[in-house]
Amino acid sequence: MYIHLQYNSRNSLKKVNTSSFSMKTKFNFAQLLIQWSIENPRTLPWIAEKNPYKVWVSEIMLQQTRVETVLPYFEKFIKAFPTIQSLAVATESQIFKRWEGLGYYSRARNMHFTAKYIVNELNGNFPNNRAALLKLKGIGRYTSAAIASFCYDENVAALDGNGIRILSRVFGIAENPWTLSGVTYFEKQAAAILPKNQAALFNQALMDFGSKICLPKNPHCQDCPFSFACKANREDRIAEFPIKKTKIELRKRHFHYFVIQDQKNNFWIHKRVENDIWKGLHEFYLIETTKKNLSKRVVQQIFGKLNSALNPEIILNFSQKLSHQHIFTYFYAVKPIEKAVQADFFLVKQENLKKFAFPKSILVFLENFIRL
Ligand code: ADE
Repeated sequence: MYIHLQYNSRNSLKKVNTSSFSMKTKFNFAQLLIQWSIENPRTLPWIAEKNPYKVWVSEIMLQQTRVETVLPYFEKFIKAFPTIQSLAVATESQIFKRWEGLGYYSRARNMHFTAKYIVNELNGNFPNNRAALLKLKGIGRYTSAAIASFCYDENVAALDGNGIRILSRVFGIAENPWTLSGVTYFEKQAAAILPKNQAALFNQALMDFGSKICLPKNPHCQDCPFSFACKANREDRIAEFPIKKTKIELRKRHFHYFVIQDQKNNFWIHKRVENDIWKGLHEFYLIETTKKNLSKRVVQQIFGKLNSALNPEIILNFSQKLSHQHIFTYFYAVKPIEKAVQADFFLVKQENLKKFAFPKSILVFLENFIRL
């Protein structure tokens, strides 16, 4: 299907003139793509890997995370948990420690759940087709297709952000990839051009092409084998494809961390247990506010009776955008306190802090002030 785009009166894109010519016959996209990938090989530890456990770990880590960031995590994770059995029997704290700093911690929690499920309910046998993989917790349309094609040579296209971007630009597809119907549309188009028995090669080539040539911003169209046919390039409308996610207002949260020690310089920390971001990670004493300002009265109420700093000063601040939230973090020094501020707090020696998993903001604090 060839789709022509036009601006309508509200200056938004709409589809017009849906003429029919097959994506397959216009030019051989798949052949050119595979040719490009052969000429531009990439060495990454998960490329050509057939072990579904390792491919699964790499694909989950690569969700919303750059390859360069993932590489050291992947190596250390596989070293710590070389098999699905070793992941299934690990504790959540051990897994979080290997995931610390990578973000989106529910990915690690879901992997742990699924590892236990596969080991205990499926006799340790990884499902070997996309439909069965899709049923597992934490495995969605893209990841199931990636594992099925890379490990079992199933004829299925795996479309991540790279694939969507390339197809939408080259073929001028204005479907919204942020909706299920949009993704389904892209998947149908990809299925039409997927070369039979070459799904693994094709899918990996799409990802590599998206991260080397068809970049989100400033793509290297001069090095692109499709530039002669690419609709976005020919019409000089690259920024219009793919359709952007409508910006959602991020929920602003202000985290005021009080770094409390005892007289012997041990640190008071606790584990986050609520159903909220960073569940299972550790932190200092937290007062959360919706505005930046922290009322002195509240601080006094909590710390006054403990004879600690009544006028604490911010010693570091840090801001971090998550998918739906903007977290502003402030760290305050407090005079030593001998008694737990709250029942679930416990003391940790400075040299033992590194045994616990912390959110990124606290890691930055520890690196700057404590030098673990
Ligand atoms: N991003 C997601 N999956 C990937 C893969 N297999 N190789 C490179 N980048 C990726």
